Amino acid sequence: MGIMIQPLKQVRGEITVSGDKSITHRAYIFSSISRSSVLIRNPNEGADVKHTLSIMQSVGAESKKSKEGTLIKGIGLKNIKEPENVLDAGNSGTTIRLLSGLFSGIKDKMFVLSGDSSLRNRPMGRIITPLRKMGGEILARKNDTLPPLVIRGKKLKGIQYKMPVASAQVKSAIILAALSAEGKTMIEEGVRSRNHTEIMLKAFGGRIETNKKIVVYPAEKLENDEIFVPGDFSSAAYFIALSLIVKDAKLLIKNVGLNPTRSYLIKKLKDAGGEIKILNKREKNGETFGDIYVENSNLKGITVRKEEVPFLIDEIPLIGVLGAFAEGTTEVRGAEELRVKESDRIKLTVRNLRALGIETEEFKDGFRITGHNIRYGHVKTAFDHRIALSFIVFGLASKKGVEIEEINSINISFPDFFDTLRVIKNG
Ligand code: S3P
Repeated sequence: MGIMIQPLKQVRGEITVSGDKSITHRAYIFSSISRSSVLIRNPNEGADVKHTLSIMQSVGAESKKSKEGTLIKGIGLKNIKEPENVLDAGNSGTTIRLLSGLFSGIKDKMFVLSGDSSLRNRPMGRIITPLRKMGGEILARKNDTLPPLVIRGKKLKGIQYKMPVASAQVKSAIILAALSAEGKTMIEEGVRSRNHTEIMLKAFGGRIETNKKIVVYPAEKLENDEIFVPGDFSSAAYFIALSLIVKDAKLLIKNVGLNPTRSYLIKKLKDAGGEIKILNKREKNGETFGDIYVENSNLKGITVRKEEVPFLIDEIPLIGVLGAFAEGTTEVRGAEELRVKESDRIKLTVRNLRALGIETEEFKDGFRITGHNIRYGHVKTAFDHRIALSFIVFGLASKKGVEIEEINSINISFPDFFDTLRVIKNG
């Protein structure tokens, strides 16, 4: 027995979505290692970022919640304390990977990082390799591949590193390690991944060049007093999708992050016939944001190629769901990274689409949707928030609804999803 998601009758009105998860992680980390008190406005309220904040508190930062946001009193990079216990990153790959980079350079102090059963099965070799090249001492379970991670902080040195996979988490781990390394660190990306760390470091006055290569210099003085976190594009994406596929829908989503490394889905959806308009575009702390207006549209199938995947990385299960409602074939290739997310997102997307009557072929690196006979079915989530949210959208947009194994995982990134949904039902 699962939870029934009933079809939605209308999508109308004006909403906001909670703050960006990726930016909130960075805001909490940089504020904590700065030498200032920083007010973070509109932070994400999900479980992942709470793990980051609580780890930063365990190593000395102070934080207070207020009506205006989260206030963090930074301690400075050099004053990070050795924690007394194992640090719990929960379900959050961003937390464990970014903080492994940061802590690798905190000389002579020891840090043990672990998390839930999903996180303990996610690959860590990708951060261990560059961090060891910098002189880091880091050990992991299963032949240095899986958490828990044991880090003994060292005096690091800058390196030149060519990224073997496009990953913002790996890139950010190296950037954070570079802040306490000797000399400069150069990172070469094949395909650019999301650049929130680079932007946040600049906002705190850090020295970083972001031309063809990324060049990071040791941190001298990191300071800021206020960071505004725009709405999470990946959360807005569920409402963009709903508005495109629910009859007569019209919706305005305000103050959504529009960083080009994150909002590429808009271009793909417009190309597929989506009626989407961006209004009131502006910028704060180097991050672009604005309002998104969406209307019900006749969507054609979408094709995603390998080089586009990093810009859509968290929206691929949702593209699968949209493919079920679109005309013609939807195909995603080059997305093998999805197999090592919070769950194997390729396998689960295909499994669930098939359970709901959608003819779907599975590839090692993606899937192809060809048949659209939507029927009622049971959805599995493996406690993955993006799978749950994507298939909640499926159920809301379908004629018969869906039964979904669990919905509590949505608290990882979007705890107020159902409150927001209530607004558009009554809008
Ligand atoms: C994130 C980077 C991406 C993304 C994740 C958040 C980040 O992961 O999928 O949800 O905040 O840096 P990868 O770096 O593994 O691609």
